[in-house]
Amino acid sequence: MSKILIVYCSMSGNTKAAAEVIADGAKTAGAQVTIKESTTAKPEDLLMCDAVAFGSYDAFSYMGGGLKDFFDRVFYPTQGQITDKPYAAFLTHGGGGKAIQSIESIAQTFKLKKVAEAVLIKGKPEGKALAELKALGAKIAATDGK
Ligand SMILES: Cc1cc2nc3c(=O)[nH]c(=O)nc-3n(C[C@H](O)[C@H](O)[C@H](O)COP(=O)(O)O)c2cc1C
Repeated sequence: MSKILIVYCSMSGNTKAAAEVIADGAKTAGAQVTIKESTTAKPEDLLMCDAVAFGSYDAFSYMGGGLKDFFDRVFYPTQGQITDKPYAAFLTHGGGGKAIQSIESIAQTFKLKKVAEAVLIKGKPEGKALAELKALGAKIAATDGK
């Protein structure tokens, strides 16, 4: 059973809701899921998972501060130990969505391996977005940690 970590930051709940739908999708696909708000996530969480999903809201075309804080805190403690670990990103936004580039760029610096296209949702996840998020969870769950 693959261990999936979902790390997200959320100000008003949209990204948190998206993270929970991804978790559902991954669990349904048979994964063991740990879901953490970014300021509470630790380097060990990233070291121990087989694959990870990073989520944020768009904040002035950059990721939210909570997720940036996570990346800053875990960079040195995980450096060289998570190369090629599978990851995917998700974002909620108000009509822009450029912040996804900041997450993808940092994931590249961490040398993680992108296993799915990012899912971008305008506002609260509903309708078609729910299916996209569930599918993202299933895709991450299907990775074997390589
Ligand atoms: C401080 C701040 C800055 C924002 N900047 C952007 C932005 O540059 N582009 C955009 O599309 N949405 C922007 N938004 C809208 C949020 O990204 C959007 O409402 C998101 O779904 C909120 O997610 P949350 O409920 O998880 O906090 C901003 C919101 C806040 C609070």
